Amino acid sequence: MQLLDGKGTAQSIKDELKEKVAQIKAEGGKVPHLAAVLVGNDGASQTYVNAKVKACEQIGFGSTLIHLSEETSEAEVLATVQKLNDDPEIDGFIVQVPLPKQIDEQKVVEAILPNKDVDGFHPVNLGKMLLGIPTLLPATPKGMMLLLERNGIETSGKHCVVIGRSNTVGTPISVLMSRNGNPGNATVTLCHSRTKNLAEITKQADILIVAIGKEGFVSADMVKEGATVIDVGIHRVPSDQTKSGFKLKGDVKFDEVAPKCEFITPVPGGVGPMTIASLLWNTYLTSQKLV
Ligand SMILES: NC(=O)c1ccc[n+]([C@@H]2O[C@H](COP(=O)([O-])OP(=O)(O)OC[C@H]3O[C@@H](n4cnc5c(N)ncnc54)[C@H](OP(=O)(O)O)[C@@H]3O)[C@@H](O)[C@H]2O)c1
Repeated sequence: MQLLDGKGTAQSIKDELKEKVAQIKAEGGKVPHLAAVLVGNDGASQTYVNAKVKACEQIGFGSTLIHLSEETSEAEVLATVQKLNDDPEIDGFIVQVPLPKQIDEQKVVEAILPNKDVDGFHPVNLGKMLLGIPTLLPATPKGMMLLLERNGIETSGKHCVVIGRSNTVGTPISVLMSRNGNPGNATVTLCHSRTKNLAEITKQADILIVAIGKEGFVSADMVKEGATVIDVGIHRVPSDQTKSGFKLKGDVKFDEVAPKCEFITPVPGGVGPMTIASLLWNTYLTSQKLV
């Protein structure tokens, strides 16, 4: 079993971006600038946003954090989005989800200018992805593709089973894995809550991608010997062994599944850091007008 080291792979991408920033600066250009909008006080969202801002600082990107209160109206969030759309200093921005219930997430996503949508959630970007037109790809699926590519994992002709069909993770990764490219060219089966005999399907997977949001859902008896397993799930589980009072766990029972795998992503240190690296990469691409 080998760990698919998202943390290390993300670091090498960040190192490359740091060099690009140095080059931009040396040429007197404008350094990429990422903004993040956080609405409310959800602990996990605060952690994710802080990690994104910190990553910008590490590589020399500009960063702006806009923190709005839990009671912020939809109109106020849309006005913030408009301001960021109009601000030439900001190359890309994200609005961290989930949003408080008074705000329609889809409306907010659609208000973001597609070429500043570094999360890759806007319908224009998802549509271009579907058609294979270069664009800002959704950050988590793009992170998984980079992880496979940079670690030399063969995907062509493999059976890839994806569990979960969300618009932000499961559906786009199933499209990317089936496209004619590298990584890609896999035969993809997309499973969801209505799938019958799930374990029979997952046991056929050469590459199993799990994005269902249920801690420890995938057990060893659902995985083929020698499979590659990518665990997207992130769960805060109470723990008295850590200072924060919680531990991060995935959708996969790591301890029992890992011995069966050729490659497996850990949680933490797998897909999470790759999502951040993709966000930074997307910000670089759009700042340099490369998409
Ligand atoms: N590491 C990262 O950077 C990152 C990024 C994004 C998300 N995440 C994490 O990834 C997980 C998934 O996120 P998401 O946004 O994709 O979740 P989501 O929108 O809640 O979607 C979950 C999907 O799982 C399916 N599902 C639920 N129970 C199932 C079951 N028993 N059998 C088969 N399929 C089942 C659902 O099917 P239906 O469609 O039929 O309901 C749905 O398609 C969460 O833990 C989230 O926190 C991590």
